[in-house]
Amino acid sequence: MNRKELSASLGGDVSLGGEISVHRIGFGAMRLTGEGIWGPPKDRHGALAVLRRAVELDVNFIDTADSYGPRVSEELIAEALFPYPAGLVIATKGGWNRPGPNQWTHDASPSHLREAVEGSLKRLRVDRIDVYQLHIPDPAVSFEASVETLAQLRNEGKIRLVALSNVTQEHIERARRIVPIVSVQNRYSFADREWDYLVEYCERNRIAFIPWYPLGAGKVAGEVLSRIAQAHRASPTQVALAWLLQRSPIMLPIPGTSSIEHLEQNVAAASLRLAKEEYEELSGVPELVGSR
Ligand SMILES: NC(=O)c1ccc[n+]([C@@H]2O[C@H](COP(=O)([O-])OP(=O)(O)OC[C@H]3O[C@@H](n4cnc5c(N)ncnc54)[C@H](OP(=O)(O)O)[C@@H]3O)[C@@H](O)[C@H]2O)c1
Repeated sequence: MNRKELSASLGGDVSLGGEISVHRIGFGAMRLTGEGIWGPPKDRHGALAVLRRAVELDVNFIDTADSYGPRVSEELIAEALFPYPAGLVIATKGGWNRPGPNQWTHDASPSHLREAVEGSLKRLRVDRIDVYQLHIPDPAVSFEASVETLAQLRNEGKIRLVALSNVTQEHIERARRIVPIVSVQNRYSFADREWDYLVEYCERNRIAFIPWYPLGAGKVAGEVLSRIAQAHRASPTQVALAWLLQRSPIMLPIPGTSSIEHLEQNVAAASLRLAKEEYEELSGVPELVGSR
């Protein structure tokens, strides 16, 4: 596939709050870290090369979080890409503590979020974070208090745009009374459509929807997906991404990978168009329980 055919721009663009526009295949930088989303990657040079290749392929939206590593994912992004090319949007998140590998404990208290934002600013080497996502509501902290803290940090110029992750419609509505919300990041894929109604809500309200786990960790599969993939000489994961892009114009998938080969396959899905009948047949496949 030549350079022109392999570009994240071929999937079209989505607006973030009417302020920034990004190409609709982004990159998720969680799996660049060590096992259990903990510590440095086994292949540091490989991880840096994947990030650089993503930008070469016109990916201009990178998703990360202070908790990935922790800190490691943000540090790798800065090491690979700083000074950042014009138009590159880095979206990070806060709201978790990491006591150890595969362990995540809530903390979306105002003091923790303030510290988290300061840490991300330093590691990403920026004066202002483009998009800051509340990683998950903290059951022990008032949701309004978490969002108000992010709104204050936005007023102080440390965050440009505020976003949410792992939320319900009620959360989004409560947050929007405090500050504009530009994107919502929930688990969603061809095989996992629990949050369908939120995709509709985001579309109606011009909020970008960022599906995490968009490939079911590379395991999306099934008879219909395989048949349609064969017809396009594509892989099932590429068809799963093409289905997401066709699902809604506000969809912004962020497939994650530590492999350049997989990255290129994922970006190539930006130019894969499914026929209306193919899209409908795929949409009619019931949720694939067990592929999460
Ligand atoms: N907001 C949240 O709570 C939350 C939670 C989880 C994730 N996220 C974000 O969402 C991003 C994506 O989610 P995810 O990483 O969990 O799931 P994913 O993108 O569905 O799957 C990533 C996995 O699939 C494999 N893969 C990627 N491309 C592939 C391809 N073309 N063919 C075969 N296998 C492929 C990768 O392995 P290889 O490395 O071997 O390619 C990796 O193990 C993360 O990076 C993170 O930024 C957010």
